[in-house]
Amino acid sequence: MTAQARWHVTERSVGLSSHERLLRDVQEGLTQDPPWLPARWFYDEKGSLLFDDITTLPEYYPTRRETEILTAHADDIARLSDAGALVELGSGTSTKTRLLLDALTARRPDLLFVPIDVSVEVLSDAAARTAETYPSITVEAVVADFEDPLGPLPGVAGGRLVAFLGGTIGNLNVAGRGAFLDRLRAAMDVGDHFLLGADLVKDVDRLVAAYDDSAGVTAAFNRNVIDVLRASLHADGLVADDFEHVARWNAPEGRIEMWLRARRPIRARFPELDLDWSLPAGGELLTEISMKFEVDVLRAELAAHGFQAVETWTDAAGDFSLTLSRVA
Ligand code: SAH
Ligand code: AVI
Repeated sequence: MTAQARWHVTERSVGLSSHERLLRDVQEGLTQDPPWLPARWFYDEKGSLLFDDITTLPEYYPTRRETEILTAHADDIARLSDAGALVELGSGTSTKTRLLLDALTARRPDLLFVPIDVSVEVLSDAAARTAETYPSITVEAVVADFEDPLGPLPGVAGGRLVAFLGGTIGNLNVAGRGAFLDRLRAAMDVGDHFLLGADLVKDVDRLVAAYDDSAGVTAAFNRNVIDVLRASLHADGLVADDFEHVARWNAPEGRIEMWLRARRPIRARFPELDLDWSLPAGGELLTEISMKFEVDVLRAELAAHGFQAVETWTDAAGDFSLTLSRVA
């Protein structure tokens, strides 16, 4: 008898619905100086597909570098964590995760895999495909915001591996990152492991090129958030082409920033909020930060939040890092 692929998707929201969150973020973010939006609003179905295209661009090195590290060290991660459950935050297509799944299922064929993401279409598709490829595992996908309280996590206490790949932690600001690590620690038990992918500080020209590619895919990804706002909130006066993509290095903060610069004066209306929002020609909206880290600083930050570093691996070029830590 062949094993049946086991997978399902559930939705979990704490407090506000996704629509209410978007309303809150628009109300709070767009009315600040400078106006800003959290990066999670990029990822409607189109935005998620555009991100997938970004991962194959010649200028966008992080995905290739993290794949290189996982190819070399997935077996070490499986051995050191000895996990029976893998929880993946911001899982997207879970493509690189397959390297981890290969290594983990070699030891534990009955692995529990819990991908968590806000992008429902991509998550459902990934859950179905993963279950098909790994018939011995159970896939319990969850549509949820990783900035919400996460606990209690599925799986046996002390036997979980939580993976947060791609450098997505860099999309949180310092305060958001601290709060995230505290919530994650609260949801985990002693003996659980945390695998964190983080992009590293490097030559500024390479960093900027990775976020302003010559094919214009990142520009389309950035501008897509305008379509998300217009479509989700029935906003008037918002046209993606009225905005120019800007990527720049903020040296004091150690981060790449993506902005949308108005090509002409913008006058938008959000009827549900009874909010009129304007931006002069040349005015800018901050749509994403992407922090770049130093390994020692990151390990110290993890330790300060209760995660004891076990091992850090980098790719041969030293572009990207993966740190395995253990809840102490
Ligand atoms: N882990 C994948 C995808 C990274 S892209 C990789 O390494 O390639 C970032 C992913 O995080 C997207 O799939 C996006 O939908 C998801 N995401 C962004 N903000 C989120 C949030 N607040 N909560 C849950 N998922 C989020
Ligand atoms: C998901 N995240 C880690 C990506 C990054 O590099 O900060 C998102 C992205 N933005 C532009 N290109 C890729």
